[in-house]
Amino acid sequence: MITIDTLKEKYIDELCEIENASFSNAWAKESFISEMSNPTSVFFVALKGGEVAGCVAMNNALGEGFISKLMVSKKSRRQGIGFMLLERLCEYAEHNAMFALTLEVRESNAPAVALYEKAGFKNLGKRKNFYRNPKEDAVIMTKKFTKEFTNENISD
Ligand SMILES: CC(C)(COP(=O)(O)OP(=O)(O)OC[C@H]1O[C@@H](n2cnc3c(N)ncnc32)[C@H](O)[C@@H]1OP(=O)(O)O)[C@@H](O)C(=O)NCCC(=O)NCCS
Repeated sequence: MITIDTLKEKYIDELCEIENASFSNAWAKESFISEMSNPTSVFFVALKGGEVAGCVAMNNALGEGFISKLMVSKKSRRQGIGFMLLERLCEYAEHNAMFALTLEVRESNAPAVALYEKAGFKNLGKRKNFYRNPKEDAVIMTKKFTKEFTNENISD
C-alpha cells in the first residue's frame, strides 16, 4: 500500500539516496532540511511498505506553485507513484485556491514529460540551455486551476 505524508526529518536520508540516483545535479541533504522550515514549501513523501518511495515538492509564490522536485526510487517506478504524488499536489493547489502549478523539465526526459501530460499539464514553451551537466533546454509545463489570477486566489 502507498501512503503519502508531509516531509519529516526521518525521511531525509532515504530521500537523499533517491535524489543521488535520479539527478546529475542532486540536492544536498541541507536542501531537504531547509524545505522543512520554508513557509512557502509544500512537500509530500510517498511511502511504500515503510520505505520512502518518492516525493514531490513545490514553492507557493502568492498562489502560483513552482514544482521544485518530483522523483520516485528506481525500484518503485512504473507503479503509479509519480502520478499519485502529482495528483496529491494538484488537490492541494485546488483546495488552496491556487492559480497554477508550473515546472521545468529536461527536454529529453520523456517519462517525466509523459507523466506531467497525463496529469493535465500543458507545454508552454522552452527555456534555452536551462540545464547544465549535461547542457539542455527545459520544457516549461503548467496546469491552471482558475481562469483568472486575482488577489482572491491568494490564501493567507
Ligand atoms: C518521472 C518519474 C517521477 C515517474 O514516476 P513513476 O512513479 O514511474 O510514474 P508513474 O508510474 O506514476 O507513471 C505515470 C505516467 O507517466 C508516464 N511514464 C512514467 N514512466 C514512463 C516511462 N519510463 N516511459 C514512458 N512514460 C512513462 C506514463 O504516461 C505513465 O502512465 P501509464 O502508466 O498509464 O503509462 C520517475 O521516472 C523518476 O523519478 N524519474 C527520475 C527523476 C525525474 O526525472 N523527475 C522529474 C524531474 S522534472
